[in-house]
Amino acid sequence: MNILVTGANGQLGTHFRMLAPQSRHAWLFTDVEELDITSREAVTAFVDAHKVELIINCAAYTNVDRAESDEATAMRINAEAVGYMADAMAAVGGMLIHFSTDYVFGGNPNNTPCREDEPANPTGAYGRTKLAGEQAAARCRHIIFRTSWLYSEYGKNFLLTMLRLTAEKPELRVVFDQVGTPTYAGDLARAVATIVESGDLDHQGTYHFANEGVCSWYDFAHEIALRSGHTACRILPCHSDEYPSPVRRPAYSVLDKSLFKQTFHQEIPHWTDGLRRCMANLEL
Ligand SMILES: NC(=O)c1ccc[n+]([C@@H]2O[C@H](COP(=O)([O-])OP(=O)(O)OC[C@H]3O[C@@H](n4cnc5c(N)ncnc54)[C@H](OP(=O)(O)O)[C@@H]3O)[C@@H](O)[C@H]2O)c1
Repeated sequence: MNILVTGANGQLGTHFRMLAPQSRHAWLFTDVEELDITSREAVTAFVDAHKVELIINCAAYTNVDRAESDEATAMRINAEAVGYMADAMAAVGGMLIHFSTDYVFGGNPNNTPCREDEPANPTGAYGRTKLAGEQAAARCRHIIFRTSWLYSEYGKNFLLTMLRLTAEKPELRVVFDQVGTPTYAGDLARAVATIVESGDLDHQGTYHFANEGVCSWYDFAHEIALRSGHTACRILPCHSDEYPSPVRRPAYSVLDKSLFKQTFHQEIPHWTDGLRRCMANLEL
């Protein structure tokens, strides 16, 4: 099978690159320089030229705060472009694997993990564009994986920011009143690659995937500082209202992964285990 990974220089795309040499399939990796997914013509031409049968779309507009003032661009990348890929796959009988986010939910007031069939109610621009992207992906055979708090060895993410700040600063205040699950991009890529390799692609629909467990951003930062030996930096818990933000972030945003585990028969590592392996790759 010819597989195209878009947005391949991002966190998740980079992890698919690393897994591809062990695959029995032919993988093609593009980022915006090689294939701008917001061009319908370019997407269709690429699919035809390379006989693409599966697109794994890792391309996205992921700046949650900036999306508030530039929703049109976020909508083009996160939704309209997903429709172009879905249409291209529908035309050749192919399939789209797409990624979405806990931001399609506004947070669960009951403080229980969100299941796939709960109604989406995004409270910000990024969540709205990602929800529209899910609807666009459904124009072809598709699987959508919603994930949360993605981090990796690459790009911009909370882990790399905290490693820098805890090395530089004597004290850091981090919010303890937002709870979710950090997810190692390497674990998500491996879970999806396992499904692709096994050919278990008949389970169309939407699934939640994050690492196991729950923590606050404060707990996550605390664990990073401890594991990196940056213990000279004091990490102090604070409330979200100390950090004015254009986006209202849910207090409790945990994805229920039962459906993923029942369907694909995979165990999911705990978030501290994902963090340990990611930091080992950074030689920390
Ligand atoms: N990051 C998170 O915390 C998080 C949480 C939940 C879900 N997700 C979802 O998980 C998926 C992967 O996220 P990620 O963190 O790996 O994203 P990422 O690191 O931001 O990577 C996205 C990649 O897409 C590229 N891209 C942007 N516009 C493009 C275009 N028009 N054509 C082709 N490529 C384009 C980006 O290039 P530039 O860098 O040059 O823009 C970047 O290389 C996304 O669907 C995201 O919404 C992420």
